[in-house]
Amino acid sequence: MLDHLTVVKHPLVQHKLTLMREKDTSTASFRQLLREISQLLAFEITRELPMTTKRIETPLCEMDAPVLDGPKLALVSILRAGNGLLDGVLELIPSARVGFVGLYRDEETLEPVQYYFKVPDGLENRLVIAVDPMLATGNSSAAAVDLLKDAGARDIRFLCLLAAPEGIARMKEAHPDVPIVTASVDDYLNDSGYIVPGLGDAGDRMFGTK
Ligand code: URA
Repeated sequence: MLDHLTVVKHPLVQHKLTLMREKDTSTASFRQLLREISQLLAFEITRELPMTTKRIETPLCEMDAPVLDGPKLALVSILRAGNGLLDGVLELIPSARVGFVGLYRDEETLEPVQYYFKVPDGLENRLVIAVDPMLATGNSSAAAVDLLKDAGARDIRFLCLLAAPEGIARMKEAHPDVPIVTASVDDYLNDSGYIVPGLGDAGDRMFGTK
């Protein structure tokens, strides 16, 4: 069972995160680093996937070899920045089913507004990994998890790159059953809802928008 919060301190994760934080890192490098880091984080969040064995034949003999058990897991990207994490995780778990939750943050109230929701069938029997690089206020993350639970999901994990203490507290209050895996818990949220020290707007940095 994963703890409610896991901070992945692995040196490769921390080094790549520092490169991503630097303001002069190019869009191309940012995207590549996000892809790499997402795979390292995915490694952690999938640590306790159920396993079974399958009878196989190596060139030398037969053996009962370990394979993943159960229905294919579902990755759910919280648009739009979630897509940056999704790509890397999908490379690692190519048979995963994929869903999207479209939420944007009202710039004044900082409250989430839903504009899209499409998820795989049978969520109740799948491990669902929701991905969003920035756990800031936690409002949109908590709202996305509400929607996933309404759609039947019972076993949900949340994967992010950076988290603010405020976002973690919000998720813990709203969804204590949803473990969070992140590369860092930063200091605080500023008045505009940005994580400090953070890395700026993750969507803008990965897509080259402003
Ligand atoms: N979303 C971002 O992209 N960056 C932040 O710092 C907070 C929310």
